[in-house]
Amino acid sequence: MSTSNKRLLVVVTGGIAAYKAPEIVRRARSRGAEVRVVMTPAACEFITPLTLQAVSGNPVHTELFDAAAEAAMGHIELARWADEVLVAPASADFLARLAHGLAGDLASTLCLATAAPLTVAPAMNRLMWDNAATRANVALLAARGVRMIGPEAGEQACGEVGPGRMSEPEAIVGALFDALPAGGLVGLRVLITAGPTQEPIDPVRFITNRSSGKMGYAVATAAAAAGARVTLVSGPTALAAPAGVDVRRVTTAAEMYEAVMAEVAAHDIFIASAAVADYRPEAPATQKMKKAGAALTLTLAPTQDILRAVAAREVPPFTVGFAAETEHVLENARSKLTGKSLDMIAANEVGAGMGFDSDENELHVIWQDGDTLLGRASKNSIARRLVELIAARYRAVRG
Ligand code: PMT
Repeated sequence: MSTSNKRLLVVVTGGIAAYKAPEIVRRARSRGAEVRVVMTPAACEFITPLTLQAVSGNPVHTELFDAAAEAAMGHIELARWADEVLVAPASADFLARLAHGLAGDLASTLCLATAAPLTVAPAMNRLMWDNAATRANVALLAARGVRMIGPEAGEQACGEVGPGRMSEPEAIVGALFDALPAGGLVGLRVLITAGPTQEPIDPVRFITNRSSGKMGYAVATAAAAAGARVTLVSGPTALAAPAGVDVRRVTTAAEMYEAVMAEVAAHDIFIASAAVADYRPEAPATQKMKKAGAALTLTLAPTQDILRAVAAREVPPFTVGFAAETEHVLENARSKLTGKSLDMIAANEVGAGMGFDSDENELHVIWQDGDTLLGRASKNSIARRLVELIAARYRAVRG
């Protein structure tokens, strides 16, 4: 765990996820950071300034024109004081204000007046997150160098399910403090596959697996944070596109194969985290199949192995596979490493509550003359460590 003397300004905006702000402050302080908190008036409807004052150990600022607070530390001074500014949760309204440079309250004024790097952890209803206005604001902020953490997909306070939930405090603080050495992948292009594939049986049914895409999306986010230009070929998932990542959405293994093959020549590194179907129904029915009393036999045909095909190219990229195993994890992963001529493989044990669809993972990463265990942690944190390893191995092997 890295520690720092970072001076972190946490801006809390209005949203139910504000209840997680004290935990962010507590975790940041336990990493050695000095933390000051600013709240919008809406945030004060969800959580009291007193709570954040207690956990931060500093007075909480809420008003732009508060004479007492200005006398203690003026807002410009506060903007200069920060080494880093984190907005968590960042509401749709606040993202819009940031994107348009508004400065009608203390929180937005500070974000506009600071020279420190700005990180936002959005939290909102899934439809607000998907709204074209929010998408445009997020794209504008990302293009200006604002770093996004999350949001995650899942059950929301409003009862709906989808992307828009604020990332967990551990992931947010991890992203702030375990950032990759700047530029580990600068100048490189990284192609990543993620999620499951769906193989049609008929127009309404398909064969798929339990992959959520979380691992691959976390790897894409980490690679982009390390300075790479990232293309993510994604099977069907409920996840929002990571900021700054070019996402190609596909459904079947054959479509994923085509998308990867169309892109691979322009990329330096290929990371195959998708759970691609190994088999597909040989002849999908063109009409919905009718129920009959007798047993039904489906003939399955093998799909093309995308990872094997990439590694077998005349000039392959630095190629990293994943291995999802329920038994003999290391043995099976090693045989995939050599059998598919890979540069590296990340093995995870999968099964009930492990690997697939969970928020945490553990990876044993193996290459020809070495290996390392990335112990159990959030997928975001594991992804950052994996990307660090890939960057180091890439530099060692390809220079
Ligand atoms: O998506 P999550 O819910 O976050 O779960 C993450 C994960 C468990 C899916 C991920 O960590 C993982 O293990 N991904 C690989 C899953 C898999 O299909 O493993 P495999 O051992 O069956 O395949 C070996 C490798 O070949 C993988 O890199 C796979 O992407 C690749 N492959 C497999 C078949 C195929 N037709 N084409 C391929 O490229």
